[in-house]
Amino acid sequence: MVGFFCLLLMLPELHSAPTVWIQPEQVHLSYTGDPTSMKVTWTTFSPAPSMVEFQKVPGVENFTECATGKATKFVDGGLQQRTMYIHRVELTRLVPGQGYVYHCGSNLGWSPKFYFVALKNGSDWSPRFSVFGDMGNENPQSLGRLQKEAQRGMYDVILHVGDFAYDMDEDNARIGDAFMRQIESVAAYVPYMTCPGNHEEKYNFSNYRNRFSMPGNTESLWYSWDIGSAHIISFSTEVYFYLKYGPDLIREQYVWLERDLQEASKPENRGQRPWLITMGHRPMYCSNNDKDDCTDHESVVRLGLPGHVFALEDLFYKYGVDLELWAHEHSYERLWPLYDYKVFNGSIEAPYTNPRAPVHIITGSAGCREMLDPFVPEPRNWSAVRIEDYGYTRMQILNKTHIYLEQVSDDQDGRIVDNIWLIKEKHGPEAWH
Ligand SMILES: *[C@@H]1O[C@H](CO)[C@@H](O)[C@H](O)[C@H]1NC(C)=O
Ligand SMILES: *[C@@H]1O[C@H](CO)[C@@H](O)[C@H](O)[C@H]1NC(C)=O
Ligand SMILES: *[C@@H]1O[C@H](CO)[C@@H](O)[C@H](O)[C@H]1NC(C)=O
Ligand SMILES: *[C@@H]1O[C@H](CO)[C@@H](O)[C@H](O)[C@H]1NC(C)=O
Ligand SMILES: *[C@@H]1O[C@H](CO)[C@@H](O)[C@H](O)[C@H]1NC(C)=O
Ligand SMILES: *[C@@H]1O[C@H](CO)[C@@H](O)[C@H](O)[C@H]1NC(C)=O
Ligand SMILES: [Fe+2]
Repeated sequence: MVGFFCLLLMLPELHSAPTVWIQPEQVHLSYTGDPTSMKVTWTTFSPAPSMVEFQKVPGVENFTECATGKATKFVDGGLQQRTMYIHRVELTRLVPGQGYVYHCGSNLGWSPKFYFVALKNGSDWSPRFSVFGDMGNENPQSLGRLQKEAQRGMYDVILHVGDFAYDMDEDNARIGDAFMRQIESVAAYVPYMTCPGNHEEKYNFSNYRNRFSMPGNTESLWYSWDIGSAHIISFSTEVYFYLKYGPDLIREQYVWLERDLQEASKPENRGQRPWLITMGHRPMYCSNNDKDDCTDHESVVRLGLPGHVFALEDLFYKYGVDLELWAHEHSYERLWPLYDYKVFNGSIEAPYTNPRAPVHIITGSAGCREMLDPFVPEPRNWSAVRIEDYGYTRMQILNKTHIYLEQVSDDQDGRIVDNIWLIKEKHGPEAWH
């Protein structure tokens, strides 16, 4: 009997007609690196044109401008080979700092209307970020607060440091659809910038590569962009772990990273944008009580492959990276300025004023079905603060010398449970000596 009922339940699934659905959904923004433009990405389940109608606000919202783009067909790697169309349209000739209203789709079906503010131009402004990793469909504890704050205009950019949905490929990528719908009320208003995490691994990161639209030409795997007085580098720690998708990706990314760091270090660039900030999923250091790379054994991201090839700690240190943002551990941990397990405080009284090594923040507690990760009982002597609450980090890059970071606890109703000023009069490797 059980088998019979199972069969009955399975049949409609197996024989269901292909969905015909042209209504735009899963609308999200990403920054292109150019303050006069913004990219809109969304999904339909049948082919449809890709249009965005938009205009400045305030004013009569009759959508006087129109931009067009194109859709790529994405076939998920699961048994059902579900097919969807990912639409990408770049809005251009925007006025930096100007507010816009838009909707997307085509005359076959339009999304609701959403709003965004084009990012400001130049280095002389103070962008505000929300930073977190490891947010899923189930138990996304910080999401409500993030939705409210994003819609109130508290952030210029969101940084999601890997691990989405848990997992986007599951249930033939319906979990990915559900996640992208869930973040729409953040990501349709504020550019949502990403890097891949281990939960995106399935089918060679295909859900990640297809659903997001980061700058550059690596299908969102590694890229960099400028904002205010910072140059932000997003990369994949996962190339070090999933060699089955191509061991050469480690070298490819490393070569790109070094070239990008060299370019950012040219006096004319570093002078304008002295802050070098990296974001990657798996941290080089952590003190969680689990079997991860950073606790169970020596971090591959930190030291690279055997023989210290493609080691990232040395690379980032060499170019004077100021701040390294990580996730993966479901907790918040702030480290003292650190290189090779040695603490290089600016001074005992003010460790983050003119620190002599990069500062690491691990912020992976936005909320997911895997819950929080506890810490080992004894803090390491390089670990400054450890917080096991759901929450996320806020970051503001005030100017060329000052960055402010604070940790929001969602468990404690939005209370700020940690904060620091990172102050640097000097940037680059010279700052270490
Ligand atoms: C949109 O509204 C403005 C202001 O009322 C008007 O000047 C313009 O002609 C309208 N455009 C369209 C396409 O209706
Ligand atoms: C942005 O700033 C740069 C340098 O300050 C300037 O050359 C450029 O014209 C500005 N672009 C816009 C759209 O304001
Ligand atoms: C995985 O994807 C990357 C990025 O598109 C590509 O360079 C690589 O060749 C792919 N690997 C395999 C095994 O298909
Ligand atoms: C760094 O500064 C912190 C805070 O003052 C202090 O607790 C720690 O011992 C310092 N570490 C070193 C190596 O000076
Ligand atoms: C931190 O701990 C390590 C390993 O236990 C030790 O070698 C090092 O001397 C300690 N550093 C400080 C500043 O106490
Ligand atoms: C940078 O921002 C900090 C904090 O607001 C402020 O104290 C400092 O004066 C600013 N520096 C410059 C050069 O504006
Ligand atoms: Fe992870």
